[in-house]
Amino acid sequence: MASTIYPDRSKAPMQGPLFGSPNKLKLAVFCPNTQRGTTTSFAEETLKLNWQNSLSIVQAVDASGIEAIIPLARWRKPKFTSPEVDRIYETFTWAAAVAALTQNVQVFATLHMALTHPVMAAKAITTIDHISGGRFALNVVAGWNSHDFAMLGMVQKEHEDRYAVAAEWMELIEKIWTENAPFDFNGTYYQGRNIVSEPKPIQSPRPVIMSAGSSPAGMKFARKWADINFAAIEHIEDTPKIVADTRAAAQEIGREVGVYTSAWIVCRDTEKEAQEYVDYVIRQKGDYDQGNSVVAEMIKNSHSTDVFSRKTIQERSMSGFFALPMVGTAEQIIERMKFVSNAGIDGLAISWPDYEFGVKQYSEKLLPMMIEAGLRVK
Ligand SMILES: Cc1cc2nc3c(=O)[nH]c(=O)nc-3n(C[C@H](O)[C@H](O)[C@H](O)COP(=O)(O)O)c2cc1C
Repeated sequence: MASTIYPDRSKAPMQGPLFGSPNKLKLAVFCPNTQRGTTTSFAEETLKLNWQNSLSIVQAVDASGIEAIIPLARWRKPKFTSPEVDRIYETFTWAAAVAALTQNVQVFATLHMALTHPVMAAKAITTIDHISGGRFALNVVAGWNSHDFAMLGMVQKEHEDRYAVAAEWMELIEKIWTENAPFDFNGTYYQGRNIVSEPKPIQSPRPVIMSAGSSPAGMKFARKWADINFAAIEHIEDTPKIVADTRAAAQEIGREVGVYTSAWIVCRDTEKEAQEYVDYVIRQKGDYDQGNSVVAEMIKNSHSTDVFSRKTIQERSMSGFFALPMVGTAEQIIERMKFVSNAGIDGLAISWPDYEFGVKQYSEKLLPMMIEAGLRVK
């Protein structure tokens, strides 16, 4: 029994479910640990957060062949409208349980670097990497929501300074994962005496790291420290240039970074039906109060959203959290996926207004077409 739940698969980071995947376009389901998921809407079918719902999505994803699941790290939404809006599971405890109850997917936790000391994070990460048999991955974020920080009695640093903290955070945690003898660390932001952390993660020298900051500073940080970076894309036609620029900048420092973007999927039998559904879920049922507050906070504190025009920013924030819309028939969605994949995108963080429906539709309808289109082999 233990062998299926805690598989002993000592894997190097580049051979885990994501990097070992034979699929041209990798997929990761985003936000299954939060009320509403990525859709800022009062519509009934958006995710109602409780453990049974979250787990049933995760287990459907695990069985579907999708490579990964990424939870959202947020302590509260920018604006308080109703208590349901703040319902979110803490990502490490969530990931530990998910790791024990799945067998195939890469299980991410998402962490605000400035809110967690690397010594604490290194131990938690190793623990989940062992529970999952080497399937853990970490999404590190610098943060943007000042209300998250205020709740912990902290003030968010200036944008550039956040990434100075983040770089030192990564330097220390990498040292913790690789040093066998106790060591002292005397950084500008972190200090420690006789630091030791055993056991080491199964993935050697460290688990997969993703950093989704899309600002110039965020992308520079990701190029140096992460295995996966995210591009924020307003117009799909711009994808080839965005990917080429990202890869070229990484190569300048001798690194290769996977380039992902996020996609919000609404697939219906006709384009008209798909558009009508978006009209319903966002324009009629949208929580514009929340949507506006996220946009205002993002504009103030992050540069990830600088690429979006005023015309699209609000709706894009509410439908997939600034994801690329993949709205239409299955054929139209496959065309868009082919376009971004041919432009060099390695993977998509996907979400839907209705996750249960979305995963089922993926397995039954989209996956066979993706295989036919050469985007996936399984
Ligand atoms: C797929 C994806 C996942 C993200 N997850 C989180 C998250 O869980 N918590 C968070 O605060 N920010 C999250 N972000 C936001 C960014 O990682 C980043 O922290 C933010 O945009 C501010 O950084 P920047 O201004 O340097 O781009 C996510 C972004 C993307 C594209």
